[in-house]
Amino acid sequence: MTELRQKINEAIKFIRTKTDMKPGIGIILGTGLGGLVKEIKKEIVIDYGKIPHFPVSTVESHHGKLIFGTLSGKNIVAMQGRFHMYEGYDLKQVTFPVRVMKFLGVESLLISNAAGALNPLFQKGDVMIMSDHINLLGDNPLIGPNDDELGPRFPDMSEAYSKELIALAEQSALDLKIRVQKGVYVAMPGPNLETRAEYRFLRTIGADAVGMSTVPEDIVAVHMGMKVLGFSILTDECFPDALKPALLEEILKVAMKAEPKMTAIMKEVVKRMKN
Ligand code: HPA
Repeated sequence: MTELRQKINEAIKFIRTKTDMKPGIGIILGTGLGGLVKEIKKEIVIDYGKIPHFPVSTVESHHGKLIFGTLSGKNIVAMQGRFHMYEGYDLKQVTFPVRVMKFLGVESLLISNAAGALNPLFQKGDVMIMSDHINLLGDNPLIGPNDDELGPRFPDMSEAYSKELIALAEQSALDLKIRVQKGVYVAMPGPNLETRAEYRFLRTIGADAVGMSTVPEDIVAVHMGMKVLGFSILTDECFPDALKPALLEEILKVAMKAEPKMTAIMKEVVKRMKN
């Protein structure tokens, strides 16, 4: 057995002493986007620090809790607080919880993040459904020996985000009368925000939004055959010719204000999902 499998097994073994729930849906909540937590009928909450091999969150605006419960009547497991490369974790640590989710029974993964808008037709406060991504992290969680029991050496990325779940999200938003955008997310390592020249470059290569997360989790989920749906809350406008300073305080404020739209769509998507 590989070291990774052993670590997953130890994490699962511990979690199974707390709950035998088999969640079909996993949720990862991004920066300032913990509001969905209030909507979850909680069965059990476990601190990341207690779970073997789970990294512990260092960013103050993140809580580190694994929440088991029901949302819209479905069994779910949610990560309140996630890990970023800029905190100093390697991408295997960042994505370890996604591996664990798979072994808990998760088949579909919903991921949210705060991102900057690159597409000039988008506005801060908009919710964007991720249609695809570009990995500019300069790293990949799958580098190193591959465990063929977890997934293939060269995973196909032609459907990095599930077409079926994207359609479900778009229909849900339409029925709820919430305006959504759809576009390509590019992941940068951070922690600094990008320069004007970088924003111009990122727009030129086809990105609609920029952030510092989600891509590693997506890659690992796809590696293990999970379906992924990604949401970006656009917290600031990264238009190179009209750039204003972006302050973390302002980013969190916009995220908090726009979050109820995303929460409503996520709840509706979960309600309409099969598992
Ligand atoms: N870059 C620019 N703006 C942002 C980001 C980012 O990574 N995240 C949220 N707003």
